[in-house]
Amino acid sequence: MIIETQEDVTRAVLAEMHRTPEPRTKEILAALVTHLHAFVRETRLTEREFQAAIALLNAIGQKTTASHNEAMLVAGALGVSNLVCLLNNGALGTRPTQANNLGPFYREGAPHCESGASLLRSPTPGAPLEFRGWVRDAAGNPIADAEVDVWHSSTVGLYENQDPSQADMNLRGRFVTGKDGEFSFRSVKPAGYPVPTDGPAGALLRAQQRHNMRPAHLHFLVYKPGFKTIASQVYDPEDPHLDTDSQFGVTRALIGNYGKCGDGSYALEFTFVVEPGEARRPMAPITGKAAAS
Ligand SMILES: [Fe+2]
Repeated sequence: MIIETQEDVTRAVLAEMHRTPEPRTKEILAALVTHLHAFVRETRLTEREFQAAIALLNAIGQKTTASHNEAMLVAGALGVSNLVCLLNNGALGTRPTQANNLGPFYREGAPHCESGASLLRSPTPGAPLEFRGWVRDAAGNPIADAEVDVWHSSTVGLYENQDPSQADMNLRGRFVTGKDGEFSFRSVKPAGYPVPTDGPAGALLRAQQRHNMRPAHLHFLVYKPGFKTIASQVYDPEDPHLDTDSQFGVTRALIGNYGKCGDGSYALEFTFVVEPGEARRPMAPITGKAAAS
């Protein structure tokens, strides 16, 4: 159609949707155009602001490398990651769930570990941590032979992929649950950490005068055919940023219960409940490790 007015633009774009053969693609694109145009009208977006928005989108791509995923960071900072997670888990958002954001730092290929093994692959300071976890179904039955990826940052707040001083795959491992659904590992108690602020995610936080901390947490990915794969994170109840997580990941169901032992070490136990569904590993947001400069 020939466009005569600003209202016509939306009609013209939606009218071109009829050739989209795949129904879900058509539905998503139509909703995207409708909401995006409504957003532009509601905010009366100026040309200068539009140019800034385009520059921001381009910068997200330019910032992304094999060891860093800026789009995932921005999605978390806007709360979209956890919204998608909570809508798709816990009986489609009607019940609490152990599912949580995958986060930008999951890597494929973590070393296979025997239950009880250490995640330390290079010297890593920090209070020792003993973790025991269980994978169960909603009725409490143990899930044996579930593959559980574990990863977390060092106590200086860097994942191995961000830190050339750590060995490849330090603080990462893949475990398999036993007959009783249990797996365990040793590591160091993670600390909270700042997310990188040298890209668009940082600009977003600064514009809102928000801090860039994430409360201390351990990451998990639980995979077992017949059950919906979940990413999870277990948070430290004493972290000062628990209720202002810069990635909006903390939910009530994921606040852990650390026990402190007399020797200064910590013990943590946690149960992951999985639902029937599709077992599918998510695409890893990163594929490599930062090179030493
Ligand atoms: Fe993390």
